Amino acid sequence: MTNTPPVCNYEGSDYQTTFWEQGGRAYEDKAEEFALRRMLPPAGNLLLELGAGAGRNTPRYTAYNRIILLDYSRTQLQQARAKLGDSPRYTYVAADIYRLPFRTALFDGATMIRTLHHMADAPQALAQVRRILAPGANFILEFANKHNLKAMLRHALRQQTWSPYTLDPVEFAALNFDFHPQAVRGWLQAQGFAVQKTLTVSHFRLGILKRSLPPSLLAALDSLFQPTGALFQLTPSVFVQATLPAPSAPLPPPPASALELFQCPSCGASPLQEQPGFLLCPSCLSQWAYQDGIYDFRQPA
Ligand SMILES: C[S@@+](CC[C@H](N)C(=O)[O-])C[C@H]1O[C@@H](n2cnc3c(N)ncnc32)[C@H](O)[C@@H]1O
Repeated sequence: MTNTPPVCNYEGSDYQTTFWEQGGRAYEDKAEEFALRRMLPPAGNLLLELGAGAGRNTPRYTAYNRIILLDYSRTQLQQARAKLGDSPRYTYVAADIYRLPFRTALFDGATMIRTLHHMADAPQALAQVRRILAPGANFILEFANKHNLKAMLRHALRQQTWSPYTLDPVEFAALNFDFHPQAVRGWLQAQGFAVQKTLTVSHFRLGILKRSLPPSLLAALDSLFQPTGALFQLTPSVFVQATLPAPSAPLPPPPASALELFQCPSCGASPLQEQPGFLLCPSCLSQWAYQDGIYDFRQPA
């Protein structure tokens, strides 16, 4: 097994309830919906949602025929499954983004929202995403922006030790990173992505504004300002839409069964063999559990 960076573990976390449902984040949630609408393609086959959490954004991906929800936390996926249910439309996969258990060039779309900020090695994570995307694929990436107005002000007033202007990530809490937009663009380009659109999101993340204006109005105003992201990025959250070069030949049809999606995250072999309660790697003999509707590729069973 290769050495990969540590994972920010959400196992057992009530993030969806405390942060989103009871945390006064209706404005941010709606503003993200506007940004996603501007970046999602009109139609797609197979989408990988990286760091899907409890599936907050999943119902917004209506353009895609089928969605694979991937998260390291099994309990987050259980919440997503309780919300979205079991159907051929959704597949739930517990795995590490640094060791994606999918065949190469499989997906025509991927999203990674509020998840890159947990990556201690963002370029390594993005290289994994690149590997599993097919030519022409659409990738929507949200990241936490260190080059934001609040950080600039605090830096000018000497209330913060780190500089918002340098390209290195800043770890503001354990396994929570802010990134410089120029660094993220560079990492995407190094992987062969072309950045198509940049939107700035959460322009009005200020207590006083959030207390005085209804979330829907604030989100509508946010939406008006989002396209300024093409020119400058000073908000705490940035969305980037990036694509891979178009295919030179027609793409193969999308997999008909879940089994056709996977390769062994330990040795890369595929196809895996279906056994009662697990998938077996015919090459390294690792067993990957399948339990209560969730494929588990974190550690062999
Ligand atoms: C802040 S939550 C965001 C969830 C969802 N995208 C949303 O916006 O509501 C971050 C998610 O990333 C997942 N995560 C963090 N590190 C991961 C890794 N290395 N591999 C897979 N998932 C990871 C966490 O378990 C958590 O569910």
